[in-house]
Amino acid sequence: MRDVSKIFPKGKKPFEKKISVLTCYDFMMARILEDSGVDCILVGDTLGVVFQGQSTTLPVTLDEMIYHAKAVRRGAPDTFITVDLPFLSYQVSLEEGIRSAGKVMKESGCDAVKFEGGGPEILELIYKLERIGIPVMGHIGLTPQSVNVLGGHKIQGKAEEDKSRLLSEAKGISDAGAFSLVFELMPSALSKEISASVPIPTIGIGAGAYTDGQVLVIYDFLGLNKGFRPKFLKTYMNGYEEVSNAVKNYIQEVRNGSFPGPEHSH
Ligand code: KIV
Repeated sequence: MRDVSKIFPKGKKPFEKKISVLTCYDFMMARILEDSGVDCILVGDTLGVVFQGQSTTLPVTLDEMIYHAKAVRRGAPDTFITVDLPFLSYQVSLEEGIRSAGKVMKESGCDAVKFEGGGPEILELIYKLERIGIPVMGHIGLTPQSVNVLGGHKIQGKAEEDKSRLLSEAKGISDAGAFSLVFELMPSALSKEISASVPIPTIGIGAGAYTDGQVLVIYDFLGLNKGFRPKFLKTYMNGYEEVSNAVKNYIQEVRNGSFPGPEHSH
């Protein structure tokens, strides 16, 4: 289902059901997510870290985002897919932001874009894209593309002035026409207050239980990201151990000659 207004309703909260979002970067995983019924897939620029092995999301390019988004679209043709605009593809000027968002929509066949921040230039871009017909998901709280000014991956919105800034950013993003808004790494009480103050669905990651939906990074969620166990993360399988055990079994069977057996031979 790809109807934005059905997946991301707007208005009086709480909505009928919470919204499930998972990130994804490839065809096969996208097929599993679609077959399992996830509400929305996010082709996140986290791919720079969990797929490419970089230390931040900053090096990711627009063409890399589109490459992954196309693969995900092929695996999940009927699922609503949002694609991140990477660092420096929308911050330089309004015109460049529009072109980047348009390129993602044209080339990937996905349904929406997401980008970080809530300053005046970002609100202007959201407003313009909405008028052009490009649905936008906002993203506030910890905004990883600004990790170098935030001083690391820290919880945001603890100080009073940050709380009121985040509240006014959320209202601005909603008023500008975004269809939903990600809260990353924020205290639950703050995300509850802000979520209640905007009519659009809020999607949390490390922002507690009061948002209208949740998003997790697929490799973290599967337990594949060795040693990465922040408090907010629930792993739904021990992916690292399970894949590693499978590889060890394979190595042993190749070495002792039990694979391939007659059933695998022509
Ligand atoms: O890039 C990403 O995967 C994200 C999520 C963490 C929300 O922005």
